[in-house]
Amino acid sequence: SGAQAAGPRELSPVVVAHRGASAYAPENTLPAVDKAAALGISWVENDVQRTKDGRLVVIHDDSLERTTNVEEVFPDRAPWKVKDFTAAEIARLDAGSWFSPAYAGTRVPTLEQYLRRVERNHQKLLLEIKSPELYPGIEQQILKQLANDGWLDRQHLADRLIVQSFSADSLRIVHELKPAVTTGFLGRPAEADLKRYAAFADLINPSHGTLSADYVKAVHALTGPHGKPLKVFTWTVNDAARARTVAGYGVDGIITDKPDVVREAVGGS
Ligand code: G3P
Ligand code: CA
Repeated sequence: SGAQAAGPRELSPVVVAHRGASAYAPENTLPAVDKAAALGISWVENDVQRTKDGRLVVIHDDSLERTTNVEEVFPDRAPWKVKDFTAAEIARLDAGSWFSPAYAGTRVPTLEQYLRRVERNHQKLLLEIKSPELYPGIEQQILKQLANDGWLDRQHLADRLIVQSFSADSLRIVHELKPAVTTGFLGRPAEADLKRYAAFADLINPSHGTLSADYVKAVHALTGPHGKPLKVFTWTVNDAARARTVAGYGVDGIITDKPDVVREAVGGS
């Protein structure tokens, strides 16, 4: 309906499966990516960190404790930091049983495995650089992995990849190394500061509790590093009523553990 006249406020927000469809499958695993695909959800979000031997892996916490059986396998290695384990050690861990016995044997994916699965499913990726202060140089390494797997070609850069972080420094590095990559800042800068963020971030992605219609409007009024209006993806919205509220604020994307629920509530893809 009137696609040409429609501004961002009149379009349904895109729906992003947070850590994959993480209400239904163990977060940041290949089954969570596949679950999102099975629900017809294009966008998946993940978190990237680095092992002791320099491999990129997909996991949210700095420690392996919550989402794997590391305590059982390596009882003497508390506090079980990702950065203190090799990729081979992490590959031995079960990253599914904590969620449900149905997912026993699920592994912590490497970024390479993860990218290949998202690609195979014809999905799109919102990649979070998690805790970059722990991993000097991780930005360059992530960009190299993305390039190796074909994620920095024109088509992926156009509308299939966003790199986000809570760290403005990390995003600035990504933007300087590879200006064509779309970037998102996680947080809610004061309105007076937004212009500075617009130098290196195409999206401003605040927690939904900090949002208002006025704030979304202020973000949309600015132009990002690629000459387009800044967008807003908000997180983590898991219920229908709240999804409708933030959609009413005019957000461009909703990041959710329950992408089926949010899509049902707000339409969108
Ligand atoms: O995508 C936004 C959201 O993932 C940020 O918070 O802690 O889930 O990584 P967190
Ligand atoms: Ca995240």
